[in-house]
Formats: sequence, structure tokens, C-alpha cells
Amino acid sequence: MRDLATIIDDRPDDGVFRLHRDAFADPQLFELEHKFIFARSWNFLTLESQLKAPHDFATSFIGRTPVLVTRDAKGALNGFVNICRHKGAVLCGAEQGNARYHTCPYHGWTYDSAGRNADIKDRNVAAYAPAFDGLSHDLLPLARLASYKGLVFGSLSADVPPLEDFLGDMRFFIDVAMDQSEAGMELVPGRMVYTYRANWKLQLDNNLDPYHLTSTHQSFIGVQARRRQGAGYTEARGYDWAKRAKTRAGTFTFRHGHAVYWTDQPEPEKRPIYPILDQLKRRVGAERAEWMLKNRNAQIFPNLQIADTAALMLRTYRPLAVDRTEMRSYCLAPIGESVEHRAWRLRQFEDFFNPSGLATPDDTVVYEDCQAGFGAEGFAYLQGYERGMAATHAGGDDTARALGIRPESSAAGTFETGIETGLHGPYREWRRLIQAGLDCAKAYA
Ligand code: FES
Ligand SMILES: [Fe+2]
Repeated sequence: MRDLATIIDDRPDDGVFRLHRDAFADPQLFELEHKFIFARSWNFLTLESQLKAPHDFATSFIGRTPVLVTRDAKGALNGFVNICRHKGAVLCGAEQGNARYHTCPYHGWTYDSAGRNADIKDRNVAAYAPAFDGLSHDLLPLARLASYKGLVFGSLSADVPPLEDFLGDMRFFIDVAMDQSEAGMELVPGRMVYTYRANWKLQLDNNLDPYHLTSTHQSFIGVQARRRQGAGYTEARGYDWAKRAKTRAGTFTFRHGHAVYWTDQPEPEKRPIYPILDQLKRRVGAERAEWMLKNRNAQIFPNLQIADTAALMLRTYRPLAVDRTEMRSYCLAPIGESVEHRAWRLRQFEDFFNPSGLATPDDTVVYEDCQAGFGAEGFAYLQGYERGMAATHAGGDDTARALGIRPESSAAGTFETGIETGLHGPYREWRRLIQAGLDCAKAYA
């Protein structure tokens, strides 16, 4: 195994942070990611609001491991490996629903919503030996399951910090998304699924990359500009992206690989929560309410992104192969929102994030362009992590101090700076987890 220091050339004192293309293209590293990152971290699974009633369920993944989250008859949330104990078939194939029992499609073993094996087909004539009766046939529970502000996370390893410690001060940026309604937040029914031929970290990367907006999304920006001049559909309350160029912008990175990119909001009146701003201020305080209006791209490592840019969007992704990824995007919305505000939100979401929209499809195409580029010979290190380097400092800046949060690093500039250093946090955690896994494997070899 090659030295990870050759994958990430990280020398902050020299102003250097370079990533080797192999981080995205090496199948051996991809296997280590499964073993030492996804299987050993908290992973986002679903929202509590998706599981309101007894026997509601949702399926998800931790890396390659299928997961079933249920609300049982007593109202408790449970997380299981979504695999039948008989021969390992995926038990529940639906994304969500309500079921008192889950029956395996292969030989019909049945489990209740608390994960207990409720029936083994034709057991009374099966001639099982007593040893079989001594085994548990129940679903395998996740090692950890916990929620924060309605977001449900699970871990395959018990050796993880308590969820609130794992999220740390990144919680501020979760709060300003999840506290937008007193009644909580929900996923608008329907979701966008994109499968692209590139590594999962291209999506991680893009969320903290403001630099690409004015080039990758030229058609989106152009359409919105023409709408403002009266052409085409004008009800989407499109943004004037030119107004963002000089806005204040920054990044924070936090322990455990979390990070956020933010900018001030030059057009707060375009946000569907703007009409209820006074109400929000009364409930969460003026400062938090103002942050709800700002543009924020939050990365909760490893598999959750909450972006509040064109619209409030929750995205999760899973690695299928070193060069193949599935991601799902949801419109996140306040429970109890008025029909008018919900329609406003949906039009903005569709504009940017839908496959029929004008932005995400362009992102997925450039991920595939990058993956194709990673196959080139004679090309090693990427130069895409150093914008804003001279404006990046360890610890918190004035903005962080005002918020009472303690990031590991802060960077400040304007939108035009196109700060890329927010990605240092996630990639340092990526390296740390893989290195820790390798060291541990060596110690027990
Ligand atoms: S694999 Fe599920 S019942 Fe056989
Ligand atoms: Fe983009």
C-alpha cells in the first residue's frame, strides 16, 4: 500500500494542498474507503419525519451495506442491516412505506417492524437440528442509531463518538436548516436520483466548490437573466447571480471532516422563508434567522450535504464502484408551510436540482469529464484545492467568534475568491480514517 502522504500533499506552512488523481481512481483506495470510512463512521440515513407512524420504514445504505430503518409498534426507531438472515437477500426493496411485516422475496422468511423473525416458512416440517433453534434469526441491528434535529444517522461500528460530539459545532449549520419550522422539516415527496460514472468524492468536492458556478452553470445563469428581461417563465423568482460576485463569503472546517461554505445573501426577498422572517426571528433569534437566509453549502462527512442555495436541498450519495456513484436529492421543506410558499420553493428546486432542471445535470457531466481525465498518463496532482489558501487560517475568525463556534479552520473572502480550502477538512479526515484503519490492521496482523 502506498504512503497516503503521496495521495494528499498537505503542507499548510508552505501554502500547499494538492490531491493526487489516484484518490478518485485507485480501486484499492476505494476498498479502504468502504472498510475504514463508511463502515466506521456515522452515516446519514433518513429523516424522522419520513417515519411518523408505527411500522413506517425507509431504506438506505451505509456504503455498500443496505439498511432498513423502521418505527416499530411501540413507536421506537430501529436500524437494521437490510439483509435476510437465511441466504442474505436484500429484505426490503422499497425506498419507504408502512409495513407491519417484511417478507423476504426469496424463501419467505418474515420479520416484524422491530426486526424480530416472525416466521420461517414451513418450519414445523423443516427437520432443523437443535443447533438451528439455538440461533437468533432476527435482523442484525446497526451498532448505533441516533437522531439530531430529525436527521437519523447510523453506524455499523460501535466505536464512534456520541452523535452530538461527532457533529460538534457543525450543528449550527444543521440547526439553521432544520429549525426553519417549529413543526420540523420534511422531504417533499419525490426525489431525484442521479447515477454518474465518476467517483463519489466528485460530489463531495462540488458542494464546497463555489468557483465552478459561473462556468459550469452558465446556461442556468443565462436563462435566469433572460427571464428577468421578461422572456419565458418568470414565476420561479430566479436569482441575479451577478449580484453575488462581491458578497462576503467564507468557509469553516470542523472536526470529523465536516465543512461549510457560506456567502451573504444579496437577495433575501427571493427566499420562500422571507415572508415569515419576523416569526423566525422571534423563535430562533435574529442572528440565526439571518443565517437561514444566507447561502450555505454544508458537508456532513461522509455522505450528507445540505445546500441552501437556489433552494433548500438535502442530498446523500453512495459509492457503487470507484468510478460510479448514485446520489439522491430531496427538496427539504418546513412542515406546515403554506401552499403558496411550497410552490415557490418547488419551482426554485426544480430549476436547479431536477434532471429536467438547468444545473445538476451539468455538474454530473463535469464529474464524468474529471473521471475521464484521471485516466490520463503523466498527470499526478490536481491544483484545485488552493484558491483562498492565503486567506485561510487555523481556528475561528470573527464570524465564528460571533456565532460562538470553534471551527478547525476559517477562510474569508468574496464569492469571486472561489475559496477551495473548505475541502481540506473532509480530505484530511478521509486520510486520517484510512490511515487509522491501516495502522490498526497492521497492529493486529
Ligand atoms: S434469503 Fe430470505 S428467505 Fe431465503
Ligand atoms: Fe454545481
